[in-house]
Amino acid sequence: MAVDSLTCKECEASYELGAAYFCERCFGPLEVRYDHSDLEPAAARRKIQAGSQGIWRYANFLPFDGRPGDPLEPGLTPLIRADRLAERLGLGEVWVKNDAANPTHSFKDRVVAVAVAKAKELGFDTVACASTGNLANAVAAHAAAAGLDSYVFVPSDLEEQKLLATAIYGTKLVGVRGNYDDVNRLCTELAQERPWAFVNVNLRPYYAEGSKTLAYETIEQLGWELPDRIVAPIASGSMFTKLGRGISEWLQLGLVSGELPTFCGAQADGCSPVATAFADGSSVCKPQKPDTIAKSLAIGDPADGPYALDLARSTGGSIDSVSDDEITAGIKLLAETTGIFTETAGGVTVGVLAKLAERGAIGGDERVVVYITGEGLKTLDAARDSFRMHEIDPTLEDFEREFAAQAVV
Ligand SMILES: Cc1ncc(COP(=O)(O)O)c(C=O)c1O
Ligand SMILES: [Zn+2]
Repeated sequence: MAVDSLTCKECEASYELGAAYFCERCFGPLEVRYDHSDLEPAAARRKIQAGSQGIWRYANFLPFDGRPGDPLEPGLTPLIRADRLAERLGLGEVWVKNDAANPTHSFKDRVVAVAVAKAKELGFDTVACASTGNLANAVAAHAAAAGLDSYVFVPSDLEEQKLLATAIYGTKLVGVRGNYDDVNRLCTELAQERPWAFVNVNLRPYYAEGSKTLAYETIEQLGWELPDRIVAPIASGSMFTKLGRGISEWLQLGLVSGELPTFCGAQADGCSPVATAFADGSSVCKPQKPDTIAKSLAIGDPADGPYALDLARSTGGSIDSVSDDEITAGIKLLAETTGIFTETAGGVTVGVLAKLAERGAIGGDERVVVYITGEGLKTLDAARDSFRMHEIDPTLEDFEREFAAQAVV
């Protein structure tokens, strides 16, 4: 297996593969490094195709010496060609990667599967996280499946569906009176005090690797080809950045050929530190106090913001934000054209896709992949007023009265 070390993203200092996440020399974030010098692309592809029906088919590109046991394997979610969505937006080829089709209905199952497997390998018996909701669901479920204890910290004003879909797994659910950035600060302090594996704090370098599998699947599902453009949501910026990393790795290793796609990031107006820095031409993100219905993306001080900015700029892409009304419209547009009901994060992503289409940023011959990272049933308030039910008595007359206008035609 190819996993090699933890390396500082800023100064390249190298560390052993333990529960470490920042560089002792310069405080930069650590990242997993691999040695793929003896990889043969055709053989690597064959091995992937003969692998499991989930993320562990990519075990050779994840931070383990072998394939870990995982009772709740996520991944291999559908990539759907969305012609009706493309048509509505005046675009050519649009694909939707529906990552709500994971065990706890968001892409967070990928990062948590990797982090929990690493926690077990390192001998932890308790896992924990700071979450905007979806991570909480995933940590609680994967800990339950692995037989580990768990503590999950969230802002106490989270959507009820996300609280319920976390507590059901028997975790210790802690609602913190504050926003995500307050929760994250508390967890960073707790990580010094308790012998726990905080998946997105002291295990963050491993956790982040899980998002590369979204890129690998996309490439495989497109028949070992690349999209021209990617549209994806940004909270901390980890998933967005690792989509780029997954594709660059496979380009470098010859598993796929072509160029890195154009990367377009999506945020909500009410929490847009990365989109604001992009618009200002800045390379640092000024922290914001979130106020948006897209609670899963409500990170005001994004750890990987600068790397997300780099990726968007270096690929000729952009980072945009949309209003709460545009988020709701995005949820509806996706549902009506693809049959996929997404949560607010997906509304943000489709809202930004619509914005890019409207301003003519996307060429008619481009192949675009849009990442839908969470499930609509978890954010029901966002869709609450979007419909009217036809309530009738159980008689033909009442049905015909109700639908009289249509019946005449
Ligand atoms: C549904 C959904 N999509 C996207 C993201 C973005 O994640 P990241 O912090 O990796 O940018 C999150 C984060 O919580 C999320 O819940
Ligand atoms: Zn360093």
